[in-house]
Amino acid sequence: QGADALPRDLAGRRVVISAGGTREPLDPVRYLGNRSSGKQGWALARVAAARGAEVVLVAANVELPAPFGVRVVPVGTAEELRAAVLAESAGADVVVMSAAVADFRPAGVAAAKMKKGAASEPTAIELVRNPDVLVELVAARSPGQLVVGFAAETGDDDGDVLTHARAKLARKGCDLLVVNDVSAGQVFGRAENAVVLLSADGPPTELPRGSKDAVAAGIWTAVAGRLAPA
Ligand code: CTP
Ligand code: CA
Repeated sequence: QGADALPRDLAGRRVVISAGGTREPLDPVRYLGNRSSGKQGWALARVAAARGAEVVLVAANVELPAPFGVRVVPVGTAEELRAAVLAESAGADVVVMSAAVADFRPAGVAAAKMKKGAASEPTAIELVRNPDVLVELVAARSPGQLVVGFAAETGDDDGDVLTHARAKLARKGCDLLVVNDVSAGQVFGRAENAVVLLSADGPPTELPRGSKDAVAAGIWTAVAGRLAPA
């Protein structure tokens, strides 16, 4: 597809995208993290900007250059991501939560590095729940604003990938849920991606397996089709 053929269906729209994975500190040098690369969020930002949107990318621990024309807001922890996303989403037409947000953080952060041989070596890490940013976004959403969530799921004894994803969509209350089947452990850090789009009001749509840019294009086409006329 040549540049001339790119749809400008996001012209004049403000979109906020979170990407990467949060890190929750244990002490000044250690953290609890996850394997999210940020690549899908970067692709979403690149494609949205190319289709005319004004894009803010809230990036948790991603060492990639800012996509052309995109404002990157770097964050570290889930709390920082929450503050940045909620502030930036005021007045946005679309908010996409593609970041892997830590569900839990250490209950306390040691002021000094934990050392071997100290009077009491740690034997366990106490955790507390982080806020659910997606649920807060849905609760704070302005009329006409679309909120998109992501879910990486595997099937288990309680149900298959789509069963879990439908339950998550209902729990979160977002307009669209982008579902990754990670049963084979094949998504993290890979260039290719395959997803299903779930909405509360229609059948699931499977996007063809392709590059993260191709998946991003499919997601934006679905989102653009749901935006109220500008
Ligand atoms: N999310 C969020 N804040 C959190 C956790 C998750 O905003 N504290 C968002 C993610 O960015 C994603 C969506 O919620 O868009 C689903 O994340 P997921 O981890 O799949 O959902 P959880 O509700 O945390 O459920 P699970 O127990 O399966 O991890
Ligand atoms: Ca989670």
